[in-house]
Amino acid sequence: MTILIKNIKELLQIREPNILKVSGEAMKTLPTLKNAYVFIEHDIIVDFGSMENCKYNNTDEVIDAQGKIVLPTWCDSHTHIVYAGNREQEFVDRINGLSYEEIANRGGGILNSVKILENTSEEDLYQQSIVRVKNVMQLGTGALEIKSGYGLSTEAELKMLRVIQRIKKEFPIKVKATFLGAHAFPLKFKNNKKGYLDLIINEMLPKIAKENLANYIDVFCEKGYFSLEETEQILKAAKQYHLTPKIHVNQFNTFGGVALAVKHNALSVDHLEELNQDDINALKGSNTMPVALPSCSYFLSIPYTPGRQIIDAGLPLALATDYNPGSTPSGNMNFVVSTACIKMKLTPEEAINAATINGAYAMGISNQYGSITKGKKANLIITKKVPSYNYLPYAFGDNSIDKVIINGETI
Ligand code: NIG
Ligand code: FE
Repeated sequence: MTILIKNIKELLQIREPNILKVSGEAMKTLPTLKNAYVFIEHDIIVDFGSMENCKYNNTDEVIDAQGKIVLPTWCDSHTHIVYAGNREQEFVDRINGLSYEEIANRGGGILNSVKILENTSEEDLYQQSIVRVKNVMQLGTGALEIKSGYGLSTEAELKMLRVIQRIKKEFPIKVKATFLGAHAFPLKFKNNKKGYLDLIINEMLPKIAKENLANYIDVFCEKGYFSLEETEQILKAAKQYHLTPKIHVNQFNTFGGVALAVKHNALSVDHLEELNQDDINALKGSNTMPVALPSCSYFLSIPYTPGRQIIDAGLPLALATDYNPGSTPSGNMNFVVSTACIKMKLTPEEAINAATINGAYAMGISNQYGSITKGKKANLIITKKVPSYNYLPYAFGDNSIDKVIINGETI
């Protein structure tokens, strides 16, 4: 199967294969080609270039992209897209004055989703989750990291991770799985934190490793959840199973989680709504990608991650949705890119870099995804006719996407 996309008004994010992330000043540049073509064979971008040099005329399919922009699909490196039910009532409670923390302290929040998931069969959980997966694919997402963390028992965590594996198998979208058993302390272990850590370390981790159900390890390192010491214990145990950390830090408080993650060679540190100079210093010179989740800030009305400060310090930045039932019931990367421009003062070039190549880096796949590069996977967004790429974040809330190609298949 071969596809030619021709007459592309502007082809965005053209990169050499050795570029795996972009940092600081370099994020201001988005390499593009005007009046371009892309040639796809099966699931691979085989060639691209200027229309005047296009030599392909016998392809199985031809897409005329006159007036349209083509870019790599979004790489959403942080989601909790596998969950059961919803938390609409907490949304209303927050409108009526309760905070996210107050709701959690009353036994709502994450534990509310845990209760619903416990009473949902694996099949039903899969069916509920794939409605959302199909939806985000339509919205231009071609790679998804998915976390467990609404199980909090061995059986339920395994159930979530198996659903993630099934999504990986049945859909063309690229999936990476993260074990987040340390998302909250389950009710049963409220007064026995050590008991829950033992369960994670001695029962969950060995089983998950044996069944090869996860690529990464995550911990909600936060006041009232997992302390620095508890986080470190879990990261050390996970290391034996070669699970690289991608951790939730600095959502509400800054107390050294970033430095701890960097010390353990985390692939990413995610949230960072609260960030101080020590955190920035810890990230300098590291291989850890800071990840901002602006639709979480939007939904919870908490501060936005200081993305401007992060980039101006010479660091890279990735953008992801955090799609989950409590703090971000949305998986729309287009909204994330817009919100990063509007609220975090990223330029469109920076936001697109953050949501493509840097997102791919934050999920360990930027050698195959996140840019228009010969040999990379054919994951492409074709927009509607738009005046320029600035229009994409500018026209927030609009659907500017005409077509999505994932793994060489038109969705
Ligand atoms: O990333 N902060 C921790 N976990 C999720 C929210 C989980 C929930 O409320 O269900 C987050 O925001
Ligand atoms: Fe999250």
